[in-house]
Amino acid sequence: MKIPSSSYTPIEAFLREASNSLLPWFERGKRMLGLEEYPLRRLAREAARLSDLLVKGRAGPYLKEEWALRAYFAFFFPQGYLKTFFVLKEMGALLRPPFPSPTITDLGTGLGASMLAAREVFPGSDLRGLERIKTAAEFARELTGLTVLVKDFTRAKIEGDIALAVSSLSETKDPLALAQRLWKEHRCLVVIEPGWSRGYSLIMELSRKIGSPLLPCGGSSCSLSKNDWCHAALPFRLPDLTVRLNSLLRHKLKFLKFTYGVFCRGFSLKGWGVRLRSPLIKEKGKSYYLACRGGKPIKLEFMGRAKGRFPQAFCCDLVDFKGKEVSPGVFRVEDLRVITSEAMNKEEN
Ligand SMILES: C[S@@+](CC[C@H](N)C(=O)[O-])C[C@H]1O[C@@H](n2cnc3c(N)ncnc32)[C@H](O)[C@@H]1O
Repeated sequence: MKIPSSSYTPIEAFLREASNSLLPWFERGKRMLGLEEYPLRRLAREAARLSDLLVKGRAGPYLKEEWALRAYFAFFFPQGYLKTFFVLKEMGALLRPPFPSPTITDLGTGLGASMLAAREVFPGSDLRGLERIKTAAEFARELTGLTVLVKDFTRAKIEGDIALAVSSLSETKDPLALAQRLWKEHRCLVVIEPGWSRGYSLIMELSRKIGSPLLPCGGSSCSLSKNDWCHAALPFRLPDLTVRLNSLLRHKLKFLKFTYGVFCRGFSLKGWGVRLRSPLIKEKGKSYYLACRGGKPIKLEFMGRAKGRFPQAFCCDLVDFKGKEVSPGVFRVEDLRVITSEAMNKEEN
């Protein structure tokens, strides 16, 4: 299937758009929580503690406590917003779901980041959030002005066009069974997980059961998964407070690293391009991108000044190329078309 030219999604442009649309909400939440006056070092200790709990899957009902609410908002809220914004934008542009104003249920709303991003990307949507922790749901409701119900989503009856689960499915006992049920009840299922192996395994398992989704690598498996797993790593601009917090943390966030699967009825992405896994890497006499095609790592190489003939691309762009395979997995590029990039977008205007 040929991708219509109007569906190019300019990565750099929407990274900027995402950061800009997040800021007013972040400022509002900061005021609600009194974060401006809160000691930064203490906030950093709390963010580190919460991060450990999240990684170990032991965060449990952490958002009941005030310290965790503050730490979550200051450090994780912007990330949740930006990841959701990116994935939904890409979904809207590449899959073009056939509904202008979808009904969206946000499963595990937390403090409202994923919901706000969904509203920004689909402004006409009918949105509601489900969150089991009352304190968090109340905060999200006050911040967003949207409907957030205090409900356990594993037990609730959920129907609509899009089921959106951002960093919440892997907190449940049987995420695979739940995701399969959600798939039966919706036209699209969007699962976004932190860049960790259990999220990756869940999305791979779902791809096997449901079919070909939109994934960070565009393939249906990832041969890098022994050492790493399929993920996007985006150079997002975070709010100042989050940047200052990050500089105090031992494990600093360099990119937003996350994995996702978008499953939409009637759409198959098989054979749709190659996902860049690196920016352009320059070496003496040549330059190259690391990329992933159908789950296999490949290298797209340009000799001498050849790269200058092709449009600029960024890490995470989807590209199409023609070229000779000069050694296993290494292609000398003869033609390159960027499916997702600002450069392509500019060319269009
Ligand atoms: C890591 S947070 C993510 C919040 C938000 N989606 C975001 O991206 O910022 C996960 C949230 O899912 C909620 N959650 C997990 N399991 C749930 C369930 N069975 N029912 C309702 N909420 C749940 C947790 O309470 C938590 O607030």
